[in-house]
Amino acid sequence: MKKILVTGAAGFIGSEFVRQGARAGTKMAVVDCLTYAGDLKRLAPARQAISFHKVNICDSRRLKQVFEKERPEAVVHFAAESHVDRSIADATPFMDTNVTGTQVLLDVCRRYPVKKFVHISTDEVYGEIEKGTFREDSPFNPNSPYSVSKAAADMLARAYFRTYGLPAVVVRPSNNYGPWQYPEKLIPVVIRQALQNKKVPVYARGLNVREWLFVGDCAQAVWQVLRKAVPGSVYNAGSGQERRNIDTVKAILKLLGQPASLIEFVADRPGHDIRYSLDCSKIRRELGWKAATTFSQGIAQTVDWYRAYFKDRR
Ligand SMILES: NC(=O)c1ccc[n+]([C@@H]2O[C@H](COP(=O)([O-])OP(=O)(O)OC[C@H]3O[C@@H](n4cnc5c(N)ncnc54)[C@H](O)[C@@H]3O)[C@@H](O)[C@H]2O)c1
Repeated sequence: MKKILVTGAAGFIGSEFVRQGARAGTKMAVVDCLTYAGDLKRLAPARQAISFHKVNICDSRRLKQVFEKERPEAVVHFAAESHVDRSIADATPFMDTNVTGTQVLLDVCRRYPVKKFVHISTDEVYGEIEKGTFREDSPFNPNSPYSVSKAAADMLARAYFRTYGLPAVVVRPSNNYGPWQYPEKLIPVVIRQALQNKKVPVYARGLNVREWLFVGDCAQAVWQVLRKAVPGSVYNAGSGQERRNIDTVKAILKLLGQPASLIEFVADRPGHDIRYSLDCSKIRRELGWKAATTFSQGIAQTVDWYRAYFKDRR
């Protein structure tokens, strides 16, 4: 692909994808409206490879101007409101960006045809599962306003493939962690609090299970999907490394040399999904992707990164 357009590139996962692309010499047009979650510092190492457009994906007119100028051959769509707790407090921005924004972007791609449209969905569209794993053809049962908005976007990508032949493919990653995640999600919150000797909040008794995928591995999965996936296809992307939240928190405290007494159990998130788990045999078999980073490697790297990050900000 000569040029790809990446939405949400100033976010946590989008910026890792762009940094990897820049290292491989790929030219990218990037679109981001820089919400609280967007930060151009994440893109500093990729400066030479990108042209940046501060545009909201709900703004059809501005998006068309970007496509007219850049003429991308493919689109990778990360832009979203991404935090479940915020969606519980106010679902409106989630419906605007995740649903309407995705529809507006898909419509622009009908007018400026691309060879591939990679939509970044989430494992949360399937809802929770106490035992077993979700396959790509498992039914949708999203439970939070966030996951409902992502399920709608995922289905819009499908509809534009079926209805208009738009070459959309969908990736459904599990929970990501790693450097540059905004400190409102579990892992960076725990690290920040522990570094300041402050209480570490854990929902309920911390028994919810998440499948932790290192952000570098997730970005690799998206690159593989962009290069190799057939239009209309869907891929789960998880690590197989499931952990109870309480065990994740304890592992971080141990790495930081902090006591478990910092943990403070707080009232549970309403509608909190107990467990997510993905069957990733399809992406391994068809695209040759498998998460390369173990949880102990990834978390050690992440803790080191935040130690430096929070120190610089003091
Ligand atoms: N973080 C995870 O664990 C995870 C897991 C599975 C799937 N996902 C999905 O991956 C994608 C990226 O997640 P993330 O964690 O990097 O999110 P993030 O919140 O860190 O970044 C989102 C980016 O999108 C931008 N953005 C938001 N609304 C926009 C709009 N209307 N127009 C243009 N830009 C806008 C923000 O400024 C930000 O830079 C999302 O679609 C998310 O649903 C995330």
